[in-house]
Amino acid sequence: MCGIVGILGKHEVSPQILDALKRLEYRGYDSAGIATVHRGQLDRRRAVGKLINLSDRLVHDPLPGKAGIGHTRWATHGAPTEANAHPHQTGPVAVVHNGIIENFRALRDELTAQGAQFSSETDTETIVQLTSRYLAQGMTPVQAARATLKRLEGAFALAFLFDGEEDLIICARRGSPLCIGHGEGEMYLGSDAIALAGMTDRITYLEEGDWAILSRGGLQIFDAEDQQATRPAARIAVESVQIDKSGHKHFMAKEMAQQPAILKAAMEQYSSADGSDVTLPEGLDFANVDRLIMVACGTAYYACQVAKYWFERYAGLPVELDIASEFRYREPVLGPRNMAVFVSQSGETADTLAALRHVRPHIGQVVSVVNVVTSSIARESSFALPIHAGPEIGVASTKAFTAQLQVLALLALRAGRDRGRLSEADYAARLDELRSAPGFVAQALDREEEIRRLTESLSQARDVLFLGRGVMFPMALEGALKLKEISYIHAEAYAAGELKHGPIALIDQDLPVIVMAPHDPLFEKTISNMQEVMARQGRVLLISDAKGLAEAGEVPQALQMPSVPDLIAPIVYAVPAQMIAYHTALHRGTDVDQPRNLAKSVTVE
Ligand code: G6P
Repeated sequence: MCGIVGILGKHEVSPQILDALKRLEYRGYDSAGIATVHRGQLDRRRAVGKLINLSDRLVHDPLPGKAGIGHTRWATHGAPTEANAHPHQTGPVAVVHNGIIENFRALRDELTAQGAQFSSETDTETIVQLTSRYLAQGMTPVQAARATLKRLEGAFALAFLFDGEEDLIICARRGSPLCIGHGEGEMYLGSDAIALAGMTDRITYLEEGDWAILSRGGLQIFDAEDQQATRPAARIAVESVQIDKSGHKHFMAKEMAQQPAILKAAMEQYSSADGSDVTLPEGLDFANVDRLIMVACGTAYYACQVAKYWFERYAGLPVELDIASEFRYREPVLGPRNMAVFVSQSGETADTLAALRHVRPHIGQVVSVVNVVTSSIARESSFALPIHAGPEIGVASTKAFTAQLQVLALLALRAGRDRGRLSEADYAARLDELRSAPGFVAQALDREEEIRRLTESLSQARDVLFLGRGVMFPMALEGALKLKEISYIHAEAYAAGELKHGPIALIDQDLPVIVMAPHDPLFEKTISNMQEVMARQGRVLLISDAKGLAEAGEVPQALQMPSVPDLIAPIVYAVPAQMIAYHTALHRGTDVDQPRNLAKSVTVE
């Protein structure tokens, strides 16, 4: 989603801003722009589409200046046109914005009544119109920005640049993340530390409600009450913001390949010295919990859906599961003995964060399972459990998903032990199974060439159906989501037993049906459902293990996975779900890492 950059530099900043915007590409965007102040004058260049269009524009029409702001826009209010692209400028002020100004209609009406002329359809333009009006009333840039911020409702990160001010950027954070980078006689700001990785590793994260005045020589931060505030500057580990493809064709390919190493590392991070226990933060207590509430979006939601089976089976803990955007609007009944678990790769998903804030006053323990440990969701939960997956750049989540599953499985097992549901022997046996997951995931990754061949015909399909039962139902959902996201083929997933209640009407010889069915206690039932598909000429691809494939008899297409313990089957079967989508997308020539319309970090509701 929208990305923000700002630089007060020693040299021309446009090339540096462009580089930083490239590092933010992974968030998803459909237009981009840069504004600078040069010889006291604001100027800007904007372009629709990929950053290459903006960089071409800059070659023909350079933008000099040592102070500047930049933006990648993911359209919300108004189509992705040049007029709607950021930076927005009215008279002597330019602004880049991530988030949504919820009261923009009222502000726009008020400003229009006072004679303001709007040149875009965006909510953002109301910000520059307001600031420019305050400047015209004689306020200084700092006073005008502050007065503007007080009028804005909604969630946003903002950066202001002014005519005549070559050593000043004002920025603000309310709801959307923003960090400041310290250089030698230079100052930077960005939506995340990855944006600033090429320039500095000394980062200060703004807190919720903060606003700041940046100059080359210093930084002043104020909190939501306008009181001067001190926020620490920390050194960020280089590997935590490293974003190269390491020889892979796509970030997604690299991230899939990293899974065995990440799962092993995550397991080690949560294991006691002798490996016999799961170490969790002091105070996290499952024994007195009467209900688990799990909330997430997208792929993270499917990880929760798998975890629901684990918490119920291994810990006897009732689980309520919600998509974050639905959760708080259904007036959920909350109690002090409930524990809430929020799962999010980015830790910034607006709906998940809003759900967390909704439950916090009513619930004893608020746990988050996150990849970005500096994120809002991590910071606002009572216990943040990192998944240690490293930066995930491919928009379609892969390694974060399997790492989320691994950490959730560890939690479920520990809950089972603490609640007396798992004996010490069972606990140890299940932990050993979990420890074997990285090796089996590596074996699943070895099936890549076979998967590539299977996807040749799949890539011609118009629709694809995924089927699974038990924990394989959420895996089918994840398989369908991955395929939709990056190949743009319409895909749906159904609980195999539900097929007869409608979707079976879709089956014909043109519909590929992917059945995910390890040889587990539900295997036979799933295979009966598969037979119902085959009896109607459905084009079945069965993904199972050796025993399953032998028992299933003849099927049009089959993919063999290693035989694995039931507990870790979802982690291992994530690999074919991901690889099928990846290779189908390659056959179709779509943009694997930055699929159209999608954003990596969804910071608007
Ligand atoms: C976006 C991404 C998905 C992700 C979802 C939730 O839609 O494209 O890959 O699963 O957001 O994101 P989160 O960061 O909260 O896990």
